[in-house]
Amino acid sequence: MNYFLKTLNNLKNLRGTVDLLPEQLIKWQNVEKILLEQLSRGCIKEIRTPILEMTELFIRGIGEGTDVVSKEMYTFLDRGERSCTLRPEGTASVARALIQNGMSANSPKKLWYMGPMFRYERPQAGRQRQFHQLGVEFIGYESVRSDVEIIAFAWDILGKLGIKELNLEINSLGDLSDRLNFQKSFLNWLEINKDSLDLDSQNRINKNPLRILDSKNIQTKKVLERAPKLFNFLSEKSIERYSELKSQLKSMKIPFIENFNLVRGLDYYTHTAFEITSGALGSQATVCGGGRYDNLIKQMGGNDIPAIGFAIGLERLILLAGKELDVGRRTDIYIVNQGLLAEPFAIDLSRKLRNYDLLVELDLSGASFSKQLKKANKLNSKCVVLVGDQEATNKEFIIRLFDKKNSGNNEEVIPFGSDTKLERWINNNLLIN
Ligand code: HAM
Repeated sequence: MNYFLKTLNNLKNLRGTVDLLPEQLIKWQNVEKILLEQLSRGCIKEIRTPILEMTELFIRGIGEGTDVVSKEMYTFLDRGERSCTLRPEGTASVARALIQNGMSANSPKKLWYMGPMFRYERPQAGRQRQFHQLGVEFIGYESVRSDVEIIAFAWDILGKLGIKELNLEINSLGDLSDRLNFQKSFLNWLEINKDSLDLDSQNRINKNPLRILDSKNIQTKKVLERAPKLFNFLSEKSIERYSELKSQLKSMKIPFIENFNLVRGLDYYTHTAFEITSGALGSQATVCGGGRYDNLIKQMGGNDIPAIGFAIGLERLILLAGKELDVGRRTDIYIVNQGLLAEPFAIDLSRKLRNYDLLVELDLSGASFSKQLKKANKLNSKCVVLVGDQEATNKEFIIRLFDKKNSGNNEEVIPFGSDTKLERWINNNLLIN
C-alpha cells in the first residue's frame, strides 16, 4: 500500500467534533425550521460574522481570566503572523461588527446568529469542541422589559420544540461598581478561607474570583455558604431593577428559581444573568445561557450602548427535542425509468414535476423496473411515475398512487405536455392533506 493510501485509512475527525449524517440531520433541520419560524415571528434579523476573528477580540470582549479565553480557545498564527482564533461564542463578534459598521446608540437592533463555535473542552455527552449555538442579541435596549422579552423569547422557543421540565434560573450581577465592592470583600474572605477550597477554585482567586461562586465541588460549595454574597452588595437601584424583573416574569407566568451563585463564565455580564437547564441532560444541563452586557460595546471601543442576549446550545437542544422531530418529509414521487429513450425523458420529467413543490426522486440506477419499484416501496414514496421507451416514444408517462402491493391504484397515463391533466392528478392525489 502506498503512503498516501495508508494515511488516508487512518484519517479521522478531530476529537470533540462530529459528522452529522443525513439521517441525523432530519431532526436538526426540523428543529432549525421551528427556530427560524420563531425568530421571524419575533422580527429578529439575522447577522453573520466570520468564524475566524483576531484573538484580541475575545481577550478584550470575554475577559483574559475566563476559562474560555485562558484554556479553551483554538488560537493560531496565520501565514501573516497574525494571531487568529476560531470563535468560542458569538456576542463579542456581534459587538465588534456593530461598532465597525457604525451602529449608533439610537437605533436599537434585535439580532440572531446560528453556527459553529469552538472550545477546547473535555468532550462528553452534550459537550463538544466544535458545537453550534443559536444566539439572540438585543442591542441598544436598556429597559427591564427587554430583559423580560428576551427571557420569554428563549423560554417560548424551547416550548415550541415541545421541551418540558425546564428550569429558568436568574440572578443579578449588579453594575460594575456593585461588583467591585463585592470583589474587595470576597477577596478578603478568600484569602482567609483559601485552604478549604478545591484546587481549581484556589487557582481562580487571582484570575477570576467571581467564577468560584459557580464551583460544582461539594466541599467548596459548603464553604461558600459562609462567604459574602454578591447580592448583598447590589446598590438600591440594582436591587430595584432585579425586583422589577422578577415581578414582570411572575406576571408573564414564567416560572423561575433565584440562584445567587449564577455568575456565568464570561466577564461581560452586568445586572441580569440567566440560564435554562434540564435534568434530562445529565451533567451538561444548561441548554441556554445569557444575560445583560451593558458595558461590553463601550469597553470594546464603541458607543455606550446597553444590550442583552442569550445563546442556546443546539446539540443539547437536539438531545432534548422529541422523537416526532426525527421524521422527515415523505418522497412524493419516485420516477422509475429504463431504456435509451426513457432515461433522458425521465430527467426532463423530474424537472417538470419539481415545479410543483413536490419531493421527486429520479432513479438513476438503470436497474429493472421491479428493482426500482422495490426501492420506491422501501422509501415509502407516495406515488411512482413509470417511464419506459414506449412511453418516451409517445411523450407520456404513467403516474400511479403507490400502495404496498403496487396494485395499480389510481393510475393514469398523462401526456408530457398536458399540465392541466397533471395538475388535476396531483391535486386529487398528492395535495389532499
Ligand atoms: P455560554 O453559556 O458560554 O454563553 O454558552 C451558551 C450555550 O452554549 C450553553 O448553555 C450550552 O448550551 C452551549 N455550549 C457551550 N459550550 C458548549 C460545548 N462545549 N458543547 C456544546 N454546547 C456548548 C455564551 O456563549 C454567550 N455568548 C451567550 C450570550 C449571548 N450572552 C449574551 N448574549
